[in-house]
Amino acid sequence: MILAPSILSADFGRLADEIAAAERGGAGLVHVDVMDGHFVPNITVGPPVVKAVRKATALPIDVHLMIENADRYVDAFADAGASWVSLHVEAVPHLERTVARLRERGVRPGVALNPATPLSSLEEILPALGYVLVMSVNPGFSGQRFIPASLDKVRRLRAQIQARGLSAVIEVDGGVDASNIKALGEAGAEVVVAGNAVYGGGDPEGAARRLLEAAR
Ligand code: DX5
Ligand code: ZN
Repeated sequence: MILAPSILSADFGRLADEIAAAERGGAGLVHVDVMDGHFVPNITVGPPVVKAVRKATALPIDVHLMIENADRYVDAFADAGASWVSLHVEAVPHLERTVARLRERGVRPGVALNPATPLSSLEEILPALGYVLVMSVNPGFSGQRFIPASLDKVRRLRAQIQARGLSAVIEVDGGVDASNIKALGEAGAEVVVAGNAVYGGGDPEGAARRLLEAAR
């Protein structure tokens, strides 16, 4: 399982150190939450911060776009050094075009689903995806409680990917901690995002290590 620490919960004044600590603890991907105050009720960061993260670590960068008009910004995030980019199905009307553009730019394309968005919304786009981001909280903030029904959603998605012989990996985001990470892996999640569980306690290296141990 790949652990993707969400820098939204990190100390932005010490971002490079915070990422390095999680990396020493075994993190394999850096998750950057981009919010615009429209699609979600919070505003965070944009391409300049992705560019700074790109300089701070050799880990791949996973950019989670919680913004309207995401199609206008994918090139800016690709230029900034994003390795993976996820688009919300609820926010992007021409998903096929935007996913194709990400592929052209050498970025792994993903589609994110809010908790209330059914898996059926992926039916046509799934073969084009490198990953699916299953939200296990309503997007907008770190530190929210995991929605338990997400586990079954991951299981059903895993079954569909297998039945169709597809290669999309499943990433789960929101409220992941030591109490649910193992069950998520068993359900079929290959990447888990953790914000509060990595950065909430002042020891991101130890926290990342303990999460990965709990997943085994
Ligand atoms: C929520 C973000 C998540 C969040 C994760 O909108 O997409 O990535 O930062 O934080 P925790 O793990 O604290 O729920
Ligand atoms: Zn996220």
